[in-house]
Amino acid sequence: RHYIVINGPNLNRLGLREPDIYGSKTLTDLERELMVFAEKQGFQVTCFQSNHEGDLIDAIHGSDGHYDGIVLNPGAFTHYSYALRDAIASVPLPVIEVHISNVHSREPFRHQSVTAPVTAGQVVGLGFQGYQFALQAIHTKIGEKQH
Ligand code: DQA
Repeated sequence: RHYIVINGPNLNRLGLREPDIYGSKTLTDLERELMVFAEKQGFQVTCFQSNHEGDLIDAIHGSDGHYDGIVLNPGAFTHYSYALRDAIASVPLPVIEVHISNVHSREPFRHQSVTAPVTAGQVVGLGFQGYQFALQAIHTKIGEKQH
């Protein structure tokens, strides 16, 4: 099995960006952790990050046929991008949404996700570990479909 982890806008600034909220580790640290985790779990992971809505949409479309599932942190697009939501709905793959921070304890505009309703589920507020939980959940879900 091969999954893709897609990170949206400003997540390339992890480690530099509001460390009190997002921690001091970088995107490279996150991606390395996920590679190690994937190897231990016996699946493959490819990571992608973009600050551009269209590139994220293309990455979601392009995942169909190439990967078995998507772990997606859409960043602020979560809260208002109907285009991203439609892109998620357009692919038959399981998608799990991840937020590093607890969006529900933050500003009201972060409480709404327009993307979550078309995903298989959401992991919120558990830091970098949330990506691992999401990968594990997708892997289990796909495993179940085989039986
Ligand atoms: C985020 C939460 C969003 O509200 C914010 O815009 C981000 C990161 C998170 O991972 O906690 O860019 O998705």
